[in-house]
Amino acid sequence: MKKQILFSGIQPTGNFHIGNYLGAVRNWVRLQDSGKYEMFIFIPDLHSLTGNLEPKKRRELMLVVAAELIACGIDPEKTTVFIQSHVPEHAELAWIFNCVTPMTELERMTQYKDKAARQEKNINAGLFTYPALMAADILLYRAAVVPVGQDQMQHVELTRDIAGWFNKRFGEYFSAPKPLLSEVPKVMSLLEPTKKMSKSLGEGHVIELADEPAVIEKKLKKAVTATEGGGRAPGVESLLLLLKQFASKEVYKEFATAEKKGVIQYGELKKALAEAINHQFIEFRQKRKQLLDNPDALQRHLEGGARKAREVAAETMKDVRKLIGIR
Ligand code: ADP
Ligand code: TRP
Repeated sequence: MKKQILFSGIQPTGNFHIGNYLGAVRNWVRLQDSGKYEMFIFIPDLHSLTGNLEPKKRRELMLVVAAELIACGIDPEKTTVFIQSHVPEHAELAWIFNCVTPMTELERMTQYKDKAARQEKNINAGLFTYPALMAADILLYRAAVVPVGQDQMQHVELTRDIAGWFNKRFGEYFSAPKPLLSEVPKVMSLLEPTKKMSKSLGEGHVIELADEPAVIEKKLKKAVTATEGGGRAPGVESLLLLLKQFASKEVYKEFATAEKKGVIQYGELKKALAEAINHQFIEFRQKRKQLLDNPDALQRHLEGGARKAREVAAETMKDVRKLIGIR
């Protein structure tokens, strides 16, 4: 039997943080290692044009993302890893999808609203039509499964709709992909624990996988734990959830029990968490550095990946061009 196709990606907008890791990348590695899927993981550089990134920084970050994916355990021998713009069909299919997607549906997208509010001076049309490009990414490879964090669910749902709108107008062709959430689909910011941890919130809000131990400790020291009103503060909840993911069962139990009894010491919790996170990513940091010291090898992986991706994309577009009546 043919394996199901799995597709996902992460933008070249910064170093990975523990939200990306727990919400997406760790899950991708587990899914890869299960051997159940034919995997495509890509770096959507065209998506990143909707933000304010400088070209030089974008170029640099593409290699960083490739290195971090591999350092996390994505194996380019098992998973097709590539850069979006190396496969021109993404932009072509995105245009076609723009023409089947109602404006009103795009207006509902919460990420668009959030990002438009955050980059007031650059509300470009790409930011608005971004989900049509994302649908093209996924459907070009006829993916069945799309593992993402909570914040991307709405886009995957829209992708399912776009497949339907296309089929209705041009004939049954695309199957609707399923989103897949990880065990921890939403990690919260350290400084504003009611918001999702995101690169765009700024330095102190996130812990990067590449952060040195002293930096992790410093950031956690400043993490918010204060309660407003009664009940467990969202900051404490979030730190305990992270401890559960990164520390041993015993350490987690110790703090969870102390919290229930109301005798938890936040300073100690933060220290234990810093140690657990540091420990988790020691090997990652070493591998990341080794990989970035050899950019030619990284480029070769990405070129190999693009070659494979182009083959699949070309097949899909051949069918699509026929269906829409331009070939
Ligand atoms: P960011 O918001 O930091 O720019 P991206 O949009 O590049 O992150 O997200 C890449 C992947 O990581 C997506 O699958 C996304 O759903 C997931 N992700 C991002 N932030 C979080 C978070 N705080 N918790 C869980 N998953 C997340
Ligand atoms: N929009 C996703 C993000 O910001 C990145 C992305 C683009 C993506 N195209 C995709 C993820 C296709 C999964 C599938 O995180």
